[in-house]
Formats: sequence, structure tokens, C-alpha cells
Amino acid sequence: MADNIKRSWYKEMAVYQIWPRSFCDGNGDGIGDLKGVLSKLDYIKSLGVDAIWFSPLYKSPQKDFGYDIADYRSIQPEYGTLEDFKAVLDGAHERGMRVIMDLVVNHTSDQHEWFLESKKGDDNPYHDYYFWRKGRGKLKPNNWMSTFGGDAWEYDENLDEYYLHLFAKEQPDLNMDNPKVREEVKDIMRFWLDMGVDGFREDVITFISKDEGLPMSPYFFPLGTGIEHYMHGPHLDEYLMEFKNDVLSKYDCMTVGEAPMMTPEKALKHIAEGDNQELNMMFHFQHMEADCLFNVWVRRPFDLKKLKRVYTNWQTKLYGKGWNALYIENHDQPRIVSRYGSERFRVESAKMLAVMYMCQSGTPFIYQGQEIAMTNCPLDDINDYVDVSTINVYNIVKKIVGEKKALKMAHYASRDNARTVVQWSDRKNAGFTTAEKPWFTVNPNYTTINVASQEDDPDSVLNFYRKLIKFRKENDIVIYGSYKEHDHARNDLYAYSRYLDDKKMLVVCSFSDKNVRFDAPEGFELSEGKLVLANYSPCGVVNNSFTLRPYETRVYLWE
Ligand code: GLC
Ligand code: CA
Repeated sequence: MADNIKRSWYKEMAVYQIWPRSFCDGNGDGIGDLKGVLSKLDYIKSLGVDAIWFSPLYKSPQKDFGYDIADYRSIQPEYGTLEDFKAVLDGAHERGMRVIMDLVVNHTSDQHEWFLESKKGDDNPYHDYYFWRKGRGKLKPNNWMSTFGGDAWEYDENLDEYYLHLFAKEQPDLNMDNPKVREEVKDIMRFWLDMGVDGFREDVITFISKDEGLPMSPYFFPLGTGIEHYMHGPHLDEYLMEFKNDVLSKYDCMTVGEAPMMTPEKALKHIAEGDNQELNMMFHFQHMEADCLFNVWVRRPFDLKKLKRVYTNWQTKLYGKGWNALYIENHDQPRIVSRYGSERFRVESAKMLAVMYMCQSGTPFIYQGQEIAMTNCPLDDINDYVDVSTINVYNIVKKIVGEKKALKMAHYASRDNARTVVQWSDRKNAGFTTAEKPWFTVNPNYTTINVASQEDDPDSVLNFYRKLIKFRKENDIVIYGSYKEHDHARNDLYAYSRYLDDKKMLVVCSFSDKNVRFDAPEGFELSEGKLVLANYSPCGVVNNSFTLRPYETRVYLWE
């Protein structure tokens, strides 16, 4: 392996993400919980993953389902107790899996003690933990808008001041410029690391530093006006470095920062390996914008060339310098087969998409239900949706395009598509709960799409994920190899190769629902390579070419 490629456990692992409320209900009250997680640890291990990332488990009023934290050191009672968490942590460790917590410190809940104190008066010691500002006469302190829609300021009559919230109004932004706030953040990190957790996924961490004086924005976006003043703020480097030097560097842990509007050039400032490295990796969003403009509500026809351009950019610019975090689903994104794949060719396209992203260089994250190819779940009535951002955005969009069209947009774009309960079996409520009714919708397709039916089927998406994760783990070339794209101009397939020492690998993915022809690039003699992964039974190669069937994928290896 080249000298600039450094091995590390966080590079070699695959991570499974749990959104606890919909994962598994262990006590029959209809809400997912830690007891449920404990009962599924063997299942998670059976996927071949090396770590679990938990979306927030902390005490929270659940206005944004845990991303509004009221107490960073206790568990949401619906999910269990700190003892239950420790049992899960031990259970995971015993099985050789690490545990990554979600660190949400751009904002707290409006029910957090700090915020309740800060409201008491501008002489309260916690007042400066948040951004409290006077209005400009009858106007708000500035023209920023929440990324969930609506103004980013909420008025408090008692104080005659407004507080800043970049997300829901129940999520006031913390003032990270206050050194006391940074000390609090470091204490929270230490609390969990001392307990034995192995790292953090840091929620919208690139938003924590706002431009001084919170200046007006000259732009107008219905969601997130003002974002240029905080998406990559002036003290971001400094604060991340402080967290690293004072806490993270003292533990054997990993970090992945969520980073909207991120580019590889900017990312390298934070994740380039060496003494100045602040985070291990970043979740950027560019590859989730191949079917939309910035936000999945603004839908456009799927553009494979755009997707390939983004991937190639990140794969090549980071190589040997920083590390990619790879994902195609999470709790904020609609299901991938319903977007970049095909519900008609659900099994084929789910396997192809898995190969497409997991055979790249980086650490793959797999979101609950992705491994069985769960699909979007359109709801008939806006009142059936539970996600605060869906409801806010719907209410804005409705005024422009009308209710019917707005609901249709929600069907495609809502985060709730990813938040229906995990489909464990074809039993009542998909085997998620023994309660009469789960807290949220069960996708009616659970009778055909569920874990139990895929366990015994060697050709299932589930067993394909297992095979793929194992293949990656056993082949350094998948993890550490360099990357080259082929046939960029084609808008029906994505082909790339990987290289390590004297080995090479070719990955071919069809994004078409028709047959398409593929000619192997020069230097790749298919008859000499080994077909190591495929989602159809192999069919003939003639003159170093073959026909790909709908959403077919093949991986060849030369060693
Ligand atoms: C992140 C989370 C998302 C949450 C938001 C505010 O984007 O992934 O679920 O709503 O931050 O915390
Ligand atoms: Ca429960």
C-alpha cells in the first residue's frame, strides 16, 4: 500500500444507524426502545457491521424526535434508562461492535435547563448561552429564516427579546462563542466517552460558528435565508480544534461531522490527516442532490451524470489526504430505492445501489431498513405526517402550489418516509411491537418486504448486503484502493475501477430499466477477472462486452 494511505479502524468499519423510535419495541408500548435494540444485537452483528450509530437517545420533548435535547446525560424514559443503555453498550462491545452517539450541540431543546434559565432575564448567567437579541423596532433582529421554514427568530414577551433558532422554534441555537458553552460541550463528550462510547456523529456541526453581529442576508431562500453567515463560520476551525485537543485526542474514538453545503476542498480543511485534523470524516450532501436542487422538495429528474460527478470529485480529491463517509440513506432522507432506484425493480436496484456506494473508498453507513430495501411510504393526509420540517415546509409550499400538489411533494420528500417502523416480519404491525398500534405508520408493504422472509432467501437484499459487507472487509482494495471513473458521458450506467498494489477491480452499475450494453475499458480483460459480486445470474461476455439487464451490477476483481 502507498505510504500516504494509513490504516485505521474507523476506515475499515461499516456502521449501522439506528433511529430508535422506529427500530424495535421491547416493552409493548408501541415505541421503539433500548430493550428492543438489545434483542436485535445479534441481528445487527449478523450483517457484518462493526459499529452502531444511535440517533439521539437522550431525554427530549421529541419535537424533532430527539434532536431537541433537554438533558444530555440521561436517556429518554420512553427508550429506557441509563442502565439499559449500558447493557446495550456492553452487549455491542461483547460482540465486537463499537457504539457511536449523536452529539447535537448546535442547539438544545427549549426545555433544557440552560434555556429555561436563560429566559429569566438578561442578567441570568445562562442568558449568554443562546442568541438573545432585541428587535429592530417591530422587525426581527435580522432576516434569517429557519432551515425548517419560517423565521429563525422567536419572540419572548417577558424579556422583550428574540432568540435564534436555525431549526424548529423549540430548538434554540447555542452560542458557541461563549467559552462556557464550549466547556459544557466538552463535559458532555467526556461523560459519554468515559462511559465507553467510541465516538460521535456530530449533528450540523459546521453551523456552530455564526458570523459576528449576525448580519442581514442579501439573499432570500424560503428555507435557510442567512445560511451563508453560519454554514462554515469564522471560528469553526478553532472550536473543532479545541474539542479535539481538549477531549477527543485523549480517547481512542472517531468522529463524523454532518456538514450541509460541504465541498471536498472545504472538507479537507477539517478532515485532512495530520496534526491539524479536526474530524475523521464528514457527511456531505452533494450526492443526495442528483434528483433535486439543494433540497429534495425541489425535485428534478434524476441526473446520473451529476451523481457521478459528485462521487468522482470526492473520491479523487480526498484520496490519500482525508477519508470519505459513504451513505445513501439516513433518517433525514427518503428511501433510496424510491429515489435513485426503482420500486418496480426494487430488489435489483437496491442491490445495485448498495454496490455503487459501498465499493467506493470510505466508511459505509447503512440506515435501518435499507438492508431489506424498504421503500417510501406516501401518507394520504398531511395530518398523518409527524415530522416538524415536513409539516412546516408543506404549509409554505401549499400556499404556492396548492394542497394537492404540496401533498404529492411531501410523498417524495418527507423525512417520514424513512421513519416508518422497521419491518421485521409479516406478523401484525410488521413484528415491530406487540402493542395494538405502533406510534407511527407501518408501511403496508410489510407483508412482502420484511426481515424474516429475507433471512432464508439466499437471493434477498438482506443476504446481498451481508455478502457485500463481508467482501469489503476481506479485500483491502475496496477500502483503500484508488479510484477512476469510466464512461462518464453515459447517463444509463456508472462504471469505476479501483486499484491497490497489483490488484484491480471494476464496478459496473446500470441505472436503466432497459437492457444496456457495456464495453469493458481498455486494460480490463473480463475473461481473466473474477466476477465477485452480481445481482443477476451471470450471462455471457462476448468480445469483452456484455449486456446489463435492468439495474444490473457486476464487480470484477483481478488479483
Ligand atoms: C440534522 C439531523 C436532523 C435534525 C437537524 C436538527 O440535520 O440529522 O434530523 O432535524 O439536524 O438537529
Ligand atoms: Ca417501547
